[in-house]
Amino acid sequence: MKRKLALAFGLIAFLVTGGAVMEVAKAQAAGSAQAPGGAAGPKKAEEQYKNIQVLKGIPADQLIPSMQFVTASLGVECEFCHVQGAFEKDDKKPKQTARKMMEMMFAINKDNFEGHREVTCYSCHRGSPNPVGTPVVMAEEPKLGAGEARPEEKKSDGTNGKEANGPSADQFFDKYLQAVGGSAAIDKVTSRVMTGTITFGDRNVPIDIYSKEPDKRISFTHTPDGDSVTAFNGHEGWLGFPGRPPREMHGPDIDAAAMDADLHFAAHLKGMFSEAQVQGTEKIGEHDAYLVVGKREGKPPLKLYFDAQSGLLVRLVRYGETPLGQMPTQIDYADYRDAGGVKIPFRWTLARPSGRFTIQVSEVKENVPVDDGKFVKPAAPPDEKKGAAH
Ligand code: HEC
Ligand code: HEC
Repeated sequence: MKRKLALAFGLIAFLVTGGAVMEVAKAQAAGSAQAPGGAAGPKKAEEQYKNIQVLKGIPADQLIPSMQFVTASLGVECEFCHVQGAFEKDDKKPKQTARKMMEMMFAINKDNFEGHREVTCYSCHRGSPNPVGTPVVMAEEPKLGAGEARPEEKKSDGTNGKEANGPSADQFFDKYLQAVGGSAAIDKVTSRVMTGTITFGDRNVPIDIYSKEPDKRISFTHTPDGDSVTAFNGHEGWLGFPGRPPREMHGPDIDAAAMDADLHFAAHLKGMFSEAQVQGTEKIGEHDAYLVVGKREGKPPLKLYFDAQSGLLVRLVRYGETPLGQMPTQIDYADYRDAGGVKIPFRWTLARPSGRFTIQVSEVKENVPVDDGKFVKPAAPPDEKKGAAH
């Protein structure tokens, strides 16, 4: 049932926001969109929303990501806590409980972990509203040798992840750059137009993706209801849904969109991190892959998995920071093929706690003219602006 609902709603929003699409869109329309160029600093949640008691002081644009974190941690929908169309109301008991839980979480971390956010909603809830306090019994006969080792324990060389004499992170970045064609070939890419299919649940819909240097990207998903758009123009990102005003991207979504839009990503990796560490190997599909964790100034880390043989990037995990915890997005890259002198993945699967989809590209054109007009953000309709002003 939940699944059906999610499918009926705008599919493309999963590209950036993840589940509960319509609710998020409605909630943002109710409280969002400061006038562009507005002089006031970032609004606080309590200035934008009507009934904020615990999350006072967080930037307003982190309220919805926090809600998405809570929703994913408990494995519920927004309506578990909220009255539809009236998010400010406290009529539902779980919403009241959730406030107490937030305070409890902050207190646990303050009192036991020096204020570091070690314990989150997910630590206890693990995708269910009712945490389990009792260990579960074994459901099946144990299969010999099938026990999945935890990644940290799975170090092939017994160096506990330090890889004392192993290759350095930079060596993996270099090998990857070579594997996709080398920096000269990458530099020559000025634009890319891809056509393919996006698969979401049991639905397949055509998608076109236009990229232009240095970091512009827009995708059009041709749903039966009209086109859905995910766009980044180098500094701003937005989402468009059929028959609704465009929605602006914020914080972590922009970080992610900028990364996806970078046509020269493979060449930029080496300069991206303040620190990068090789943390052993993991199996991805049939192959071993090396995990490199890259730290960035003021942003959550990235996890990059490089195929041990080919050197290609086969998985990227990034995190969206929210006041309550980090939301992961995992992208698996596959079907690398040559496209005009560089190797690019023709298939990728993007997975979040709230959903996943796969894009399979069928045709790529490199260095064809792409009109800058494609990346101009549509203006919000006038009544929408008025609505947002109060
Ligand atoms: C587990 C309960 C829970 C879930 C699930 C949940 N929320 Fe909330 N939400 C809250 C609580 C609690 C507050 C008030 C926070 C405070 O007082 O600081 C809140 C506040 C809000 C507000 C501010 C309303 C106002 O005007 O004061 C919005 C908007 C909102 N949530 C949207 C959402 C959306 C969208 C979802 C689904 C993605 C969602 N919430 C899921 C518990 C929840
Ligand atoms: C330290 C463990 C722990 C943490 C952290 C935690 N919870 Fe809980 N939560 C529980 C337990 C245990 C219950 C069940 C209590 C019961 O069964 O009466 C619960 C119950 C709830 C309920 C009521 C569920 C229902 O069925 O009505 C909500 C809502 C909730 N938690 C939200 C949250 C949110 C949101 C966070 C993060 C801000 C959070 N919890 C963090 C342990 C935790």
